[in-house]
Amino acid sequence: MLTDQDIQRFRLETRGTQHVIHFNNAGSSLPPDAVRNAVNEYNNEEMTMGGYETNQKYLPQLEATYDSIAKLLNANRDEIALVENATVAWNAAFQAIDWENGDVIIATRADYASNYLAYLHLKRKFDLEIKVIPSLTSGDLDLQAFEKMIDSKVKLVSVTHMPTNGGLTVDAEAVGVITKKHGVLYLLDACQSAGQYPIDVEKIGCDMLSATGRKYLRAPRGTGFLYVRRSVLSQLTPYCIDSHAAEWTGVDSYQIRTDARKFEGWEASRANTMGLKAAIDYALTIGVENIWQRIQYLAAILRNELAQLPYVKVHDIGDLKSGLVSFTLEGKSADEAKTYLHERGINVSWNGTSNTYLDMTSRDLKEVVRASVHYYNNEEEISDLITVLKKIN
Ligand SMILES: Cc1ncc(COP(=O)(O)O)c(C=O)c1O
Repeated sequence: MLTDQDIQRFRLETRGTQHVIHFNNAGSSLPPDAVRNAVNEYNNEEMTMGGYETNQKYLPQLEATYDSIAKLLNANRDEIALVENATVAWNAAFQAIDWENGDVIIATRADYASNYLAYLHLKRKFDLEIKVIPSLTSGDLDLQAFEKMIDSKVKLVSVTHMPTNGGLTVDAEAVGVITKKHGVLYLLDACQSAGQYPIDVEKIGCDMLSATGRKYLRAPRGTGFLYVRRSVLSQLTPYCIDSHAAEWTGVDSYQIRTDARKFEGWEASRANTMGLKAAIDYALTIGVENIWQRIQYLAAILRNELAQLPYVKVHDIGDLKSGLVSFTLEGKSADEAKTYLHERGINVSWNGTSNTYLDMTSRDLKEVVRASVHYYNNEEEISDLITVLKKIN
């Protein structure tokens, strides 16, 4: 449990909190000083000493990034690939599957747009079927219906853990019980849950998991990672290989690496990797379970306060709600609300239909304002947001 003093310290260590009320953590969080320092220190050295030389000097720390991610996920370091964002991570896994005509993908209603676009894009090449798990009236997945959907044609179950809006937290562990029982590949999009929710790939039972650095992990932009379970690594063929992912062994031959780094490219910002490591270590020191408790506490206050405003409607669903709070305002578009708040020093975001097309259209929503809380936010910031919203109409 985090104390008021802890929160005060986290805010002092996050200089952005002195400038802005940041409720756009689901877009990109304010990083702590530890992240900024790690990136700046590495960049300075690189600019002075040379890129490859600095890489060599910092190799132990860069390598330790894999250990930090492995610890965050309860995985092994050889199951981790460092990439530049969640979409690259997700596609590295998705495109590596041996797709064939007749395959079925089971998806979720609140899947992230880029994932669903990838299914549709692949459908142009293969005769695939996309089936969507029905939702209960609560908005949670209908797990009984899901299990009945599984047959020998199902090649992949693809789930977005915490959708980009709508407040849902999918029961990823329950999905894993079913995929394991039926021996079906399971890809989890943990883009919004990494750093927010305590992820344990053994408990969840997913085979692949994608995440980004800049959101709830508070890492620099341009960072992300993929987890691939050892037991499925050999079934997956990367769609792009460079000389880091494979070795050119003869005129007509090459050897692909056997660990998850076969999904990486050689060139990347090492400074950002240092920032990612610093961010994950910072989160691990606080404890992701503590972070999750605090986010749920703040998000519940925010939802409750918003619900008191007669012209505001909160649109969050599911039994277990994430820190992503979605709402609409009567008489104001989401973009107008976002701009109004921004001009008064409060950052929020807005989402339109195309971010989660199936979910938004099934709920007759065209757009929502998204205020996403993190553990370093506080009750006063929520009050300030509500005060400003009271004046908006
Ligand atoms: C649920 C979810 N998945 C994937 C992504 C894509 O992440 P990235 O921009 O790091 O590729 C996002 C971005 O908002 C997201 O919310």
